[in-house]
Amino acid sequence: MKLALAIAAAFATVSLAGPALAGPAEDIVAKEKCNKCHTEKTTKKGPSWASIAVKYKGKPEAAEKIFLQLKNGGQVGDEEDHKKVKASDEDLKAIAALVLSAK
Ligand code: HEC
Repeated sequence: MKLALAIAAAFATVSLAGPALAGPAEDIVAKEKCNKCHTEKTTKKGPSWASIAVKYKGKPEAAEKIFLQLKNGGQVGDEEDHKKVKASDEDLKAIAALVLSAK
């Protein structure tokens, strides 16, 4: 019981530390090697985050669309079998936000 409380306390501390975006989303993007095809600013095999952010500017459904794309993979534009990401819904939403906030 004491141990569970200690873990819960440690967890609370971690989740309070730092701004919401600098963390899990960036780690997952690095770990999943998204940068093989995407970088923040340069178009490689896939579009840069910044150009995706421009494309979806002012479209409120963008975050949901990207979230579903990352969760389910499959056809994305001309990419027939886009990479799918195994992470919690919360982390996938954070990745979508990271992409859409790129400049
Ligand atoms: C093998 C190359 C490749 C990898 C690896 C890859 N992508 Fe992509 N991605 C693409 C291509 C190509 C497109 C563009 C498809 C099109 O619009 O025709 C794309 C499009 C996207 C889009 C824009 C979708 C839209 O609606 O315009 C997002 C967001 C995205 N990728 C996120 C990611 C993330 C996050 C990862 C890492 C988990 C990742 N991609 C890994 C190739 C890749």
